[in-house]
Amino acid sequence: MQCQSQPELEQLVAEARGYARLGKAADYIPALQKVDPELLSVSLFYPDGCHFTAGDGNQKLTLQSISKVITLALAIMDRGAEYVFERVGQEPTGDPFNSIAKLETINPSKPLNPMINAGALAITSMIKGNSIKERLDRILDFIHDLTGNSAVSYNAEVASSEFETSHLNRALCYFMKQSKVINEDVEELMELYSKQCSIEMDCLALAEMGCVFAMDGFNTETEKQVMPRDVARICKTFMITCGMYNASGEFAINVGIPAKSGVSGGIMAAVPGKCGIGVFGAALDEKGNSLAGLKLLEMMSRKYSLSMF
Ligand code: DON
Repeated sequence: MQCQSQPELEQLVAEARGYARLGKAADYIPALQKVDPELLSVSLFYPDGCHFTAGDGNQKLTLQSISKVITLALAIMDRGAEYVFERVGQEPTGDPFNSIAKLETINPSKPLNPMINAGALAITSMIKGNSIKERLDRILDFIHDLTGNSAVSYNAEVASSEFETSHLNRALCYFMKQSKVINEDVEELMELYSKQCSIEMDCLALAEMGCVFAMDGFNTETEKQVMPRDVARICKTFMITCGMYNASGEFAINVGIPAKSGVSGGIMAAVPGKCGIGVFGAALDEKGNSLAGLKLLEMMSRKYSLSMF
């Protein structure tokens, strides 16, 4: 079943919007506090180019953890799956996204998956290039291929706000450097990671990226295979098992779509073979997922029968 009209989508946004009051915008990255937490927007993008946007429309959001899916795909293309998964695991943690606990207690020297911060930092360190600029440009070029929009860039204010305040991420890096999962300068890696997290776009671009994953790596707009099918498959599998952190199981039951959230309040979802969805609502629940965004996806999944299960 396909969304038939904009008013239909507006109706769902109106129903979900109230949930924002139960959460709050992320405060550990000061620049993320600047958005109105009650704004809510959603875009749907179909392989035939048809798309709908409802709610507070063209608001821009930074990818934050949504970028972890993009760098995972690029790292696998750069290094091969075997290299990547020798260094980063494939299992959900059940812990908060920034937890350091399992780095020491379970499977020493190997972060459990690429969707938690420890795993994502190790993945970013695998992106090839001769300088931070070159590596960031490669991430951006890949995003340009995914969105079909070469104007997408990063928000410098959000990037430096994160760079200055990422004490816990630095701790994760130093821990992994000690165990040789990471072999580069931590400050350089933090610069690249902060910029990657601050890549900025609107919900429609998020939905376009979701659609490429939904179509097994094929961008139906540009008619370009932007990643191998197998890479898209691995990414979607992580989105289902770990994409919403320690709420991934509940999300799989209530929504049943491969998706990845970020602390900006964004969610990118890929409905296999059907469409991409981008959601933005900055008020988060205690696990770091957009509260109204989760409710909206739940309603959409039920109304349009989107669950894979
Ligand atoms: O590593 C961080 O702290 C952020 N830049 C990204 C974390 C994030 O988005 C977690 N999401 N729910």
